[in-house]
Amino acid sequence: MYLTKEEERVLSGEGGYAQQVAMKILVALGDIFEADRLIPIESAHISGVSHKTLGDAVDFLEKLQEEGAKAQVPATINPCSLDLEKWAEMPVSKKIYTAQLHIIKLYSNLGVNPTLTCTPYYLKKPRKDAHLAWAESSAISYANSLLGARTNREGGPSALAAALIGKTPRYGFHLDENRKGEFLVDVHAPLKSAADYGALGYLVGQSAKMRVPVFKGLKLCRSDWLKALGASMAASGAVSMYHILGVTPECPVGTKAGRVWREGKPEETIIVDQKQLDDAYSSLTTSKTDVPDLAFIGCPHCSLSEIEQLAQLMQDRKIKKGARFWLCTSRHVKALADERGLTARLEASGVEVYCDTCIIVTWLKKAGVDSLITSSGKAAYYAPQLCNVEVDFNSLQEMVQKVTKLA
Ligand code: F3S
Repeated sequence: MYLTKEEERVLSGEGGYAQQVAMKILVALGDIFEADRLIPIESAHISGVSHKTLGDAVDFLEKLQEEGAKAQVPATINPCSLDLEKWAEMPVSKKIYTAQLHIIKLYSNLGVNPTLTCTPYYLKKPRKDAHLAWAESSAISYANSLLGARTNREGGPSALAAALIGKTPRYGFHLDENRKGEFLVDVHAPLKSAADYGALGYLVGQSAKMRVPVFKGLKLCRSDWLKALGASMAASGAVSMYHILGVTPECPVGTKAGRVWREGKPEETIIVDQKQLDDAYSSLTTSKTDVPDLAFIGCPHCSLSEIEQLAQLMQDRKIKKGARFWLCTSRHVKALADERGLTARLEASGVEVYCDTCIIVTWLKKAGVDSLITSSGKAAYYAPQLCNVEVDFNSLQEMVQKVTKLA
């Protein structure tokens, strides 16, 4: 990869240890993926924040802090293992709280905004064609597909390195040719909820792996539902970008085949019908209980409209004895929900609203949860493996039916 004189000086250590190590990471990546050069980025989003998963990487953050490293572009971080304000209500000890706070302080000292959310695009929406270096697969899919911004699927270290340098290697989804569709998904089923879109994403992710799918036949394309589609596809596969004919920004109505398809036409067509969708629900469900221990929404973190929807469904209802209902969102979106009285309404009906965290990055089992019901395809996919709980993957309406009753 070509480096400017200035970049070469940084690589040789003239800018200090932190800049050198960050540049080494970017150069190694660029060489592996045959990038031609580094390009400036407008923001970085960093994963690897939870005390549950970070491990020895804390030492690396400490070293960077000692060396005075600072982010050169706006940078944000993913959720951590607890709610910073309500941690005492969660299955975490003071010791864990202190350790988690230390990690967050390290990021803050590196000049990273401690947003603790996987939906940084609700805080600041990247502009179309902006180059980014984002980790967090669901956010990558959202940025590339729904906003037309450009990011590869970064890991925590490469996103942090990009933040410290303010640049990323130019390859993959930064280039026009790699953003084009590779195969067609023809949907022959009426999808009517976020869970349906999550089920579709789970199915397509399995056959897509890293390829770019193009959807047709999707009638209702609400952004919350497309967020669920992308998050599931990025979990069951490694899909970082998709298009919907006539809907997404790089595939508007009337787009010519040459602009849609990498090879001029789809390399295959996958038809998805109702039976396959039903099978996806079954695959993501490991067990069904009449009253699960926990109902959960907020993977990815809830938007304001998702919070509004739950508040509406919870009207005149309360949580059944023995069950709990968690909603996870960002501080930014919660503040908007607070202003509208939605948080107070949800909490009055027994819903627990948490920020800064999610069920996957905290210790669900320690909260006494053995069985989970969720409408999130991504959470349903990861919870059995990462939280060791049984999952009922279901619609939001069914969740509310199962864990609540009339007040
Ligand atoms: Fe976000 Fe946690 Fe899901 S980080 S995308 S809510 S697994």
